[in-house]
Amino acid sequence: MEGIVVKSLRGRDFLDTADFTREELTAMLSRAAELKSETLRGSRINTCLAGKSVALLFQKPSTRTRISFDVGVHQLGGHPIYLGWNELQLGRGETVTDTGRTFDCFVDGIVARVFRHSDLEEMARVADAPVVNALSDSSHPCQAMADCLTIIERKGRIEGINVAFVGDGNSNVCRSLAEIVLQMGGKMAIASPKAFMPPDEFVRSARRLSSGAASLELTEDPNDAVKEAGVVYTDVWVSMGQEAEAEARRSSMRPYQLNASLMATAPSDAIVMHCLPAHRGEEVTAEVIDGRNSVVWEQAENRLHAQKGIMSLLF
Ligand code: CP
Ligand code: NVA
Repeated sequence: MEGIVVKSLRGRDFLDTADFTREELTAMLSRAAELKSETLRGSRINTCLAGKSVALLFQKPSTRTRISFDVGVHQLGGHPIYLGWNELQLGRGETVTDTGRTFDCFVDGIVARVFRHSDLEEMARVADAPVVNALSDSSHPCQAMADCLTIIERKGRIEGINVAFVGDGNSNVCRSLAEIVLQMGGKMAIASPKAFMPPDEFVRSARRLSSGAASLELTEDPNDAVKEAGVVYTDVWVSMGQEAEAEARRSSMRPYQLNASLMATAPSDAIVMHCLPAHRGEEVTAEVIDGRNSVVWEQAENRLHAQKGIMSLLF
């Protein structure tokens, strides 16, 4: 069975988890867990990308994603090439289409962080090499895969687990988390001000991805969202590219801060997650993100292992 799944993943793009079945996501997560234990046992170099090169294209800043892909490609035996958008001819107006075609002449995989999700789709259309979404304005599926790996490690499964997201309900991180939680049979609750709820069209399509016990609830009351949560998650209030709206966003989301008083409403064993970078004192207090329920550093490390799982099956 795994052989069939693995074969069908070779050459596929990874733009959103919604493009994959629950079985395929499980195969990538299992591979990630295997590679993680190999790495922790000390065998750091796996040769599945030997002789292969991977372009890492970034139009926005990045710390975790950039480092984890660079190190991940290296640990799989391949050659990572970091490419800043403005250092390429893209910055002088060459099209995404021609850039994608050029990448395809040289590399075996393309990892890209962009503003417009449609730029990833265009690159995937013209390049035979698989394209992996390293964050776009609308989604962050590699983060969601690492988050799933972390929840499985901490809670043993996703099926039936209550995941509460508090803050910007339409952030790329929240959208991808909601999709994967529903796909894997978890129960997602999003607490957000009305103006920052995910749009109805997204909610409808996310609900269609549901399997098993999955459910998706939207509420404006953060206490309601976290009261039965096994996982409490937040993301920044001002995402990259939204700087002009910063003040308005901060003032509407202030009641959604993840702080000790909100955590007192959650079960005592609820874990705290954040994709990082964090703004202590804004979406989360230092006390909570640096507190005993926080798993944010495991979550960050799992970016490496989750992405190795994805790349080893797709590239
Ligand atoms: N979580 C995440 O994607 O972090 P970076 O922006 O630092 O890559
Ligand atoms: N929503 C955030 C995530 C950063 C990893 C952003 O897009 O800036």
